[in-house]
Amino acid sequence: MTTLKNDLLLRALRGEKTERVPVWMMRQAGRYLPDFMKLKDKYSFFERCQRPELAAEITIQPVDQVGVDAAIIFSDILVVPQAMGMEVQMVEHRGPFLPAPIKRASDLEKLRVPDVAESLGYVFEALRLTKKNLDGRVPLIGFAGAPWTLLCYMVEGQGSKTFDQAKAFCYTQPETAHRLLQLITDTTIAYLKGQAAAGADVVQIFDSWGGLLGPDDFEVFSLYYIRQIVAALKEQALTIIFAKGAWYSLEEMAATGAHGLGIDWCIRPEIARQLAGPHVALQGNFDPAKLLSPIPVIRKEVRAMLDAFGEGPYIANLGHGILPNVPVDHARAFVETVKNYAYEPAR
Ligand code: CP3
Repeated sequence: MTTLKNDLLLRALRGEKTERVPVWMMRQAGRYLPDFMKLKDKYSFFERCQRPELAAEITIQPVDQVGVDAAIIFSDILVVPQAMGMEVQMVEHRGPFLPAPIKRASDLEKLRVPDVAESLGYVFEALRLTKKNLDGRVPLIGFAGAPWTLLCYMVEGQGSKTFDQAKAFCYTQPETAHRLLQLITDTTIAYLKGQAAAGADVVQIFDSWGGLLGPDDFEVFSLYYIRQIVAALKEQALTIIFAKGAWYSLEEMAATGAHGLGIDWCIRPEIARQLAGPHVALQGNFDPAKLLSPIPVIRKEVRAMLDAFGEGPYIANLGHGILPNVPVDHARAFVETVKNYAYEPAR
């Protein structure tokens, strides 16, 4: 095994002191990078995910070009519903489209808990190849969607601002919803264990739509399943939960034993720290749209964010994915400002 030359992310997640704050950006692979756009013209979205040499190349681009302290494997959360037997299309300018969504109990018969080595082996291969090509420069992050966020797409069939149909499904057919959530959970556990075995040092669970649920429903329809995933991964990888908008659950999320918790820009770092307690690493929380500001403004605001997070275990990141229209030198300014920052406790 290669030893890592830069293990800042891993040390922050273990709660150890680091000489500086580690930094990466959600959705850093692809989207805003010109080299990625070139590949986009040649290969379809899922082709880019399924060909390990392409996925590995895209994964490493932001390490080379933006200087982040971690690589996140190029893939998508929707490869899991695909492996479970659903058709998923990625439609240009529109996003994901699932032509035969889940609407009732009988629709679950079409789904399976797949043999992940068979149906998602291409992701494991991409991780192995990326790990080899990174040659220990930075840690490698694997990921999966949280069961609740995957249910949103599997039931709604496409993106939505409110996911009312997914919520109505949970509220009117709770038993079927829980069966579906458990099928997704079982698949995700096997999938993330496979990612860890293939070289992912860290796995992040993306619950992009967690905050659409109130605190009680978040516990019932989301955290109950995330907790199973975190517990199952305990021995194999460091874990990060990013449940966008679900700040009300930070205390409960910290109690799962996850090593890191992602937060968005709608909560003050000081309050997030109070809720999450002193030990867990916090990750976030720059407003992605602020990367469209002039570079001097980005630098000032990033320093203010770092001041606000203070001295606890911390990983600098955005509060959600980077936007496709962010100029690369703005992304670079974000990363560089974190790297050059030295925390000075107020006297
Ligand atoms: O972080 C990374 O750069 C790794 C790659 C990654 C992608 N999707 C590639 C992608 C990751 C971590 C994801 C996660 C993902 N996918 C989430 C959770 C994170 C979040 O942003 O909330 C969600 C909700 C999805 C579902 C999804 N995939 C949507 C809504 C879309 C369309 C709009 C968009 O976000 O760009 C996708 C497509 C997708 N996934 C693209 C990329 C680079 C763009 C399509 C393309 O390049 O052809």
